[in-house]
Amino acid sequence: MADTLIIPAGLTKEEKYKALLPQLKSMLEGESDGIANMANVAAALKEIFRFWWVGFYIVKNNELVLGPFQGPIACTRIARGRGVCGTAWKEGKTLIVPDVEQFPGHIACSSASKSEIVVPLFNNGLVWGVLDVDSDRLNGFDGTDADYLTKIAGWLRH
Ligand code: SME
Repeated sequence: MADTLIIPAGLTKEEKYKALLPQLKSMLEGESDGIANMANVAAALKEIFRFWWVGFYIVKNNELVLGPFQGPIACTRIARGRGVCGTAWKEGKTLIVPDVEQFPGHIACSSASKSEIVVPLFNNGLVWGVLDVDSDRLNGFDGTDADYLTKIAGWLRH
């Protein structure tokens, strides 16, 4: 496996995703361990996009439990339907939150987090976890992030 990602300087966000995705796909195809792959996805997204926090929560005994992540320490358990992550899990859909303070029930793991996107991870139609990305800026995420993060999410298994 290549141990570095090659992303040229000066690209737009979408161009960065386009450069990253094939490299990430071949990295993930070369490794069968789900935790190892989630760890590298978190590292790649954090490094390339300089997000505040990137990580995974995995469904265990009907709650979300913190998995591989990059960034400051975070809440370890989230109930179904709670916060942005628990809501994305319950509804089985991607949530983009432009201002976390406006999301009822948002769970503030870090006061620096201003906006957030949560993408559910599916296997055979069931949500087995979520990918959660936080920005320290308002309006940090849009449909471009949703599209590409959903593609990445589809390559992951637990
Ligand atoms: N803000 C999330 C909790 C997880 S942290 O952002 C890492 C939520 O409301 O579900």
